[in-house]
Amino acid sequence: MRVLVTGSTEGLGLAAVETLREQGHGVVAHARTEDRAEALAALTARGVELVVGDLEDRDAVARIAADLNAAEPLDAVIHNAGVWSGNAVMPVNVIAPYLLTALLDAPRRHVYLSSGSHYGGRPTLEGVDWRGDAPGSYGDSKLFVTAFVAALARVRPDLRAAAVDPGWVPTRMGGPNAPDDLDLGHRTQVWLATADDQDAPASGGYWYHRRRREPHDAVHDTGFQDDLLRVLAGETGVALPCGPGQ
Ligand SMILES: NC(=O)c1ccc[n+]([C@@H]2O[C@H](COP(=O)([O-])OP(=O)(O)OC[C@H]3O[C@@H](n4cnc5c(N)ncnc54)[C@H](OP(=O)(O)O)[C@@H]3O)[C@@H](O)[C@H]2O)c1
Repeated sequence: MRVLVTGSTEGLGLAAVETLREQGHGVVAHARTEDRAEALAALTARGVELVVGDLEDRDAVARIAADLNAAEPLDAVIHNAGVWSGNAVMPVNVIAPYLLTALLDAPRRHVYLSSGSHYGGRPTLEGVDWRGDAPGSYGDSKLFVTAFVAALARVRPDLRAAAVDPGWVPTRMGGPNAPDDLDLGHRTQVWLATADDQDAPASGGYWYHRRRREPHDAVHDTGFQDDLLRVLAGETGVALPCGPGQ
């Protein structure tokens, strides 16, 4: 397998890169800037590839996708990069994974980091500041990503999509007192990205520690899913390509 992990300079993304590498997979790590890429120097010296770009910047996201489309095809993406607060919440947590999904040609498996916070998200697309001119709601962003996964399972049966709650774990985002298991926090993403086709679970699930969980009711609302796809396509000017037979 050849897997891209976004936001892999620390935390769960870095752990995913290390585990994928240990398991013998090809890995493309990702850093926001060349300076942050120094955190990955030991891994790139051992053959991990690297892409660099700020996911808050839509042009940078499109450039990353174009560079990856010109390289050896990816099998899977772990859309891991995320921010907890501030103006970057919607651009990084929702717009960047949407754009990468729409623009990357090859990968058929997409794993998106959700969160238990998505249960507190509001299932409304009215007044969302997708451009990051004002602070965004983390819970809303994770609800949107989880609904996007359910939408993908319906409209893109050629892809395998999954949303993962990694638990509240002690990373920079989670803080030192987070109670859940840091090691378990990245294992589900790696499993979903690399499972053999015959062992892989159906597309569209919301996962926690390799178990499927019931997400927020709005995730199953096909009207909400369709509205979300329409809004994201309108906002970015990039429609999700149709899958075979669509
Ligand atoms: N930790 C938790 O308890 C928890 C719980 C539920 C869900 N999650 C989700 O799990 C994912 C990983 O979280 P984490 O705890 O590992 O967070 P983290 O330790 O703060 O790491 C976040 C990663 O995302 C990258 N990133 C953030 N903004 C970026 C941008 N604009 N461009 C490129 N890269 C960017 C960071 O790069 P820099 O180092 O350059 O900032 C870093 O590599 C997130 O999606 C988060 O929402 C975490």
